[in-house]
Amino acid sequence: MLSYQHGYHAGGKADVHKHAALAVIVDKLTQKPKPLSYMETHSGRGVYNLTAPEALKTGEAQGGILSLFAQAGPPLGHPYTRALDAARYAFGADFYPGSPLIARTLLRPGDHLHLMELHPQEHAALRRTLREDNVHIHKRDGFAGVLAISPPTPRRGLVLIDPSYEVKSEYVESAQFIIALHKKWPQAVILLWYPILWDERHEDMIDLLTDADLPQFQRREIHFPALKDSHALIGSGLIFINTPYGVDEALDEAEDLLAPLKTTACP
Ligand SMILES: C[S@@+](CC[C@H](N)C(=O)[O-])C[C@H]1O[C@@H](n2cnc3c(N)ncnc32)[C@H](O)[C@@H]1O
Repeated sequence: MLSYQHGYHAGGKADVHKHAALAVIVDKLTQKPKPLSYMETHSGRGVYNLTAPEALKTGEAQGGILSLFAQAGPPLGHPYTRALDAARYAFGADFYPGSPLIARTLLRPGDHLHLMELHPQEHAALRRTLREDNVHIHKRDGFAGVLAISPPTPRRGLVLIDPSYEVKSEYVESAQFIIALHKKWPQAVILLWYPILWDERHEDMIDLLTDADLPQFQRREIHFPALKDSHALIGSGLIFINTPYGVDEALDEAEDLLAPLKTTACP
């Protein structure tokens, strides 16, 4: 099923949560000179126009990043702000970077990016957006694609997992993928985003990951005020494996960015 399009959700609160944390982790990993491998299972198109009909239809960016810009804005010098500024400079003030563009902005020319995207139009758009020699874009299933090229060279690196969760089975599949990936590439820092819905369908996934006893495991969630509606997104969750040492404070600060958007961080 490929009906999900991220253009409806780009720049929403969940994107701010996920992308600010991603920027913190990439920034931390690039503080050491050794090169990195960066991979994504579900990349999207790389950049989004927040005045496009899809974005205007849901208004999610309005309640997310545009609301932040209307207030104090994300702080100068923060890695997320650097990636936002670079995208607005390159594409225009109405544009918002997806995760591959955030990573590409913060990574160095000697790092390698391997990006999976299955949707033909999103894949074609991603190819137009990221053209550098160190970016490798694959039109294939994200879980199979990342496993096939793991462990990569260089072995230091990060994998972002950001499925569309169009079908319920994607939660458990994501956990199974993480466990398989960790076996093949134990050094990989892994970052998983998941939606929180009223029926808490992510709980089986969390149980599987908790039972797997993976190293440097962290779970962070924020909750949005929402009406009781079985389809509404009521929060945004992140799982970290092999969380880099010394990053907790920066992740707390990244969550604080969301405070003006009326969200609550949950331990
Ligand atoms: C949530 S979006 C990704 C957003 C992106 N990571 C970001 O933060 O900017 C999920 C993407 O996964 C793609 N997709 C769906 N099924 C896929 C699969 N099996 N393998 C790879 N990509 C897939 C969709 O087309 C969609 O673009």
